[in-house]
Amino acid sequence: MNTAKFITFEGVDGAGKSTHLEWFANALRQRGIDLLLTREPGGTPLGERLREILLNQPMHAETEAMLMFAARREHVEQVIRPALQRGTWVISDRFSDASFAYQGGGRGVPLAKLEQLEQWVHGDLQPDLTLLFDIPIEIARQRLANNVSLDRFEQERGDFFERVRQAYLARAAKSPQRFAVIHAEQTMLEVQQALAKIVASL
Ligand code: TYD
Repeated sequence: MNTAKFITFEGVDGAGKSTHLEWFANALRQRGIDLLLTREPGGTPLGERLREILLNQPMHAETEAMLMFAARREHVEQVIRPALQRGTWVISDRFSDASFAYQGGGRGVPLAKLEQLEQWVHGDLQPDLTLLFDIPIEIARQRLANNVSLDRFEQERGDFFERVRQAYLARAAKSPQRFAVIHAEQTMLEVQQALAKIVASL
């Protein structure tokens, strides 16, 4: 039986998910699990080119949503599905929940449109587990303040991120069996203890 798992990491910018992703991936590798790390937008040559555009070029909110899903279509087909089929676990730094949070919550693209895109692009594939790094927006903003260059999303105002955060939490409440919500304002050690429990449960 093929038991390779598809795991995604989500959260507002500044929640620390990328750092925790490294730790989590190493913990799985130490248990002998063969895994592939990838990210969105991106993960394929075309996806990385779309990422460049998405992070820098102003555009209509629905164009942004469609480009996110276009990159994702490529990512699912070329990277995620083939890896899972050969038994390799996949950990993706963001996936469709980010579109529901940023384009849906942040930009106001109607949920029904995003659900159609999701159905179209990966109707039969959902992550087995999504780790949502949740953090009060003021703290996330303070962490971002040290960055020298901020992309188009990171430059958004506090109320944008508040909507993104709420949309993530709403998404988690809809699928509690898929989501693990991690309180990302805790110390690094406390977060790692929470992650270690999740690794053990896998
Ligand atoms: P990320 O790689 O987490 O940023 P960084 O490299 O700066 O840590 O994500 C890039 C940005 O793309 C992030 O601000 C969220 C945004 N995004 C969306 O708006 N919608 C999406 O569907 C995805 C995947 C990302």
